Amino acid sequence: MGMLHPSPEFITSVCFLLVATAVFLRRRVVHGHRRGLSIHVTDRAVAHRALLEHSTAFLNRPIGVVPSSILTGERYPNIHAAPYGPYWRAARRNVVAGVLHPSSLGLLGDIRARALSRLVGDLNSGVLPAECLHFAVYSVLAEMCFGEDVVSELGETRLRAMHKLQRDVLRALPSLAVLVRYPRMGKLLYPSRWRQVLAFRRQQDEAFLPIVAQVKRRSHKNKDPSSFKFKTYVESLVDLRIREDDGACRAATDGELVSLISEFLGAGTEATAAALQWTMANLTKRPDLQQKLRAEMVAVATACGCDVIDEVELSRMPYLRATVLESLRCHPPIPFVMRHMESEVAAKVLGVTVPDRGATVNFLVGKIGRDAATWSDPTEFRPERFMSGTIDADLTCTRDLTMMPFGAGRRACPAIAPAMLHLQYFVANLVREFEWWEADGDDNAVDLTEFRGLFVTIMKRPLHARLVPRHPE
Ligand code: HEM
Repeated sequence: MGMLHPSPEFITSVCFLLVATAVFLRRRVVHGHRRGLSIHVTDRAVAHRALLEHSTAFLNRPIGVVPSSILTGERYPNIHAAPYGPYWRAARRNVVAGVLHPSSLGLLGDIRARALSRLVGDLNSGVLPAECLHFAVYSVLAEMCFGEDVVSELGETRLRAMHKLQRDVLRALPSLAVLVRYPRMGKLLYPSRWRQVLAFRRQQDEAFLPIVAQVKRRSHKNKDPSSFKFKTYVESLVDLRIREDDGACRAATDGELVSLISEFLGAGTEATAAALQWTMANLTKRPDLQQKLRAEMVAVATACGCDVIDEVELSRMPYLRATVLESLRCHPPIPFVMRHMESEVAAKVLGVTVPDRGATVNFLVGKIGRDAATWSDPTEFRPERFMSGTIDADLTCTRDLTMMPFGAGRRACPAIAPAMLHLQYFVANLVREFEWWEADGDDNAVDLTEFRGLFVTIMKRPLHARLVPRHPE
């Protein structure tokens, strides 16, 4: 039987149709609700008025801007992507009152110590600092998420493979973002990218769902209310109940569980690891500041006689806190926070008229933290500015808003306490273990140029440093 060959006219009209569809979709994207008008806020007083004083008018992020939406569409939102409502409230309350609550942090000392010991080993064996800092943060969050027993059963090879999967997903997201912009046509126009999304999603399901099943089986067997044990994130998710507006109560679906777990590990690791790398880079560039920090650390360690500095000692190190704050001010990992604005109240607060389809408001975190009207010599890395007591570094921004590395208002980061603790813990112990020197040669010098990724601002060239152990064997 002969094959039918399409005529040249047929091919031309199909091509024309595809181009016209793409142009039409692009116009909708630029002018439609996904982008709409964009307003930038750089004034800290306006940011405070909007996010704190009128927080109810700024409750939602625009649809489709959260990177995870690329993998999940809008079907399985995580906390970042969820619109204000019963699901967001239940998921946020669960994480804030559970695994991220400051009272849980005291129970995580062993988790931190294990990650630190592996990190010091990796650094001693010459692994690139940027790589091992990232994995150290991931392994702390993985144990908080799954529990020590599950992680030790998985073994280091599987854990590293899960870490690699997360990094692969994040690296691929920029090229997959087109599928959020063109949700329906994107699948037809970019079938290989769509297949990649499905493959990533399948790999995440295969990595996380067996762990969820294992935790479910275990929690049925072992309900000992008297045991005072840290409750992992997955344990809390298994117990999570979402009360919908109609009063019905339900558990999280598998899709939602995978999204929430992958957010915890992904968003948590990327932001914290970026902040850790920026802090160590600045200390490597400034041996004088590093020495000052080491002197504070030695005094505290001598007084307590401890091998590893942890929570209690960290609270006695004001210069350490000042160093981490200065790093977050100069190099906030999340460069801007976004809200969707649609109400008259919100428009009035910002002094604009509200367009038909609302608008996206970007609060420029980096600009606010480096505003010369608030900060003297704003581009200089100077932790001392936080030591005088005149600057209010209230990270929740409740009283005043001078910098907002964790965002502000009802959708602010729920992990301020653990993130600050982990940053201070790693910085103090890394300065205790090693002297960090800028290595000779252009390729090895520390370069503080920023690279704006899809989600976090990282160092354009990953941190290189010459590490000299302070306690050689
Ligand atoms: C230095 C580390 C971190 C920084 C700088 C950071 C920063 C931020 C920022 C700027 C936001 C947006 C806030 C807003 O829109 O007002 C955010 C939201 C969020 N962060 Fe973090 N974060 C960090 C660590 C973490 C960690 C460790 C976790 C969890 C393990 C986490 C979980 C979240 C979640 C779930 C949200 C969404 C909150 C909501 O929409 O209600 N973050 N974070």
